Amino acid sequence: MKHVSILSSLATSLSFSRAAPAISNPGASAAPISSQCINIEYRQNWIVAECLTGEDATTRIKSAVYLHNKIENSDGSLKWNAGGGYARTCADCQITGADAALSCSCGTSWNTGKPPNIIGTIKLDEHISVYNGHLLSNFPSTPAIPPISSKYAVPDDLSYSFGGLATCPEAGNESYDFCKMTTNSCHTSTNTSDTLDSRFFFTGPLTCYVPTIYFPAHFQFEALKLVSQGAWEVLGYRDETCSGEAIERVGPEDVGVCKKFGDQRVRALTIRPAFNGDPQ
Ligand SMILES: *[C@@H]1O[C@H](CO)[C@@H](O)[C@H](O)[C@H]1NC(C)=O
Ligand SMILES: *[C@@H]1O[C@H](CO)[C@@H](O)[C@H](O)[C@H]1NC(C)=O
Repeated sequence: MKHVSILSSLATSLSFSRAAPAISNPGASAAPISSQCINIEYRQNWIVAECLTGEDATTRIKSAVYLHNKIENSDGSLKWNAGGGYARTCADCQITGADAALSCSCGTSWNTGKPPNIIGTIKLDEHISVYNGHLLSNFPSTPAIPPISSKYAVPDDLSYSFGGLATCPEAGNESYDFCKMTTNSCHTSTNTSDTLDSRFFFTGPLTCYVPTIYFPAHFQFEALKLVSQGAWEVLGYRDETCSGEAIERVGPEDVGVCKKFGDQRVRALTIRPAFNGDPQ
């Protein structure tokens, strides 16, 4: 126990002195999860916790970081990887200990001589820290520290889905538009568990995502309906590389609304939490 507290206070002072110059907000420094947070939870492949803002000894912000797009299962070991994907082949995950270690039962590669499932562990502290009370990751890139706390709470259910009116004229011919056949239903509804119009289902943020169900059909949206319990923000882009400004936005106030876009089609989406959640 003594060992742990010496290590974690050493880590605190190291990260304070080292992290400060790299961060745009001069008032913020990166502090370790376990020294700042309580009620640390693993939920739908996110870490959720309530962390001290630094204002005083009790003020906390509940925030969350998505893990599935940052960690991979490499033959039973958990590793940082921008492609992520561990949750497809790992189960029974939990977060424990002074270094906020994620451990799961992870599948191994066939024919390696290992048991089919072994325990994989990774220290979340290596890339996730507390900045002014916000849990944020510096992987794959430097975090932007939110200047204020969101008015939207971290939802109990972090999943969301969307559908709407789409076409993919470039993928087929005039009489056979796969996208139009599958995604052509968009009814405004306040029922946040009614996913009848949804075709795309996610539990984490997306950066410049080009909607596809089967290659090579790239969906182009004329209208989009977001269904979620939590507050998310959808930014729609004109081209698949998300160059330039977003041309459309679907915000938390639009949940359940069939939002019709203007004349331009949306070909790629960035979807990020409007609650206190890491956008990357
Ligand atoms: C259009 O594509 C569908 C599906 O590939 C095909 O069955 C149909 O014959 C095509 N029609 C024309 C006019 O090429
Ligand atoms: C909301 O939608 C779900 C799924 O379609 C349905 O089971 C439920 O009855 C609906 N709730 C209300 C209040 O209409």
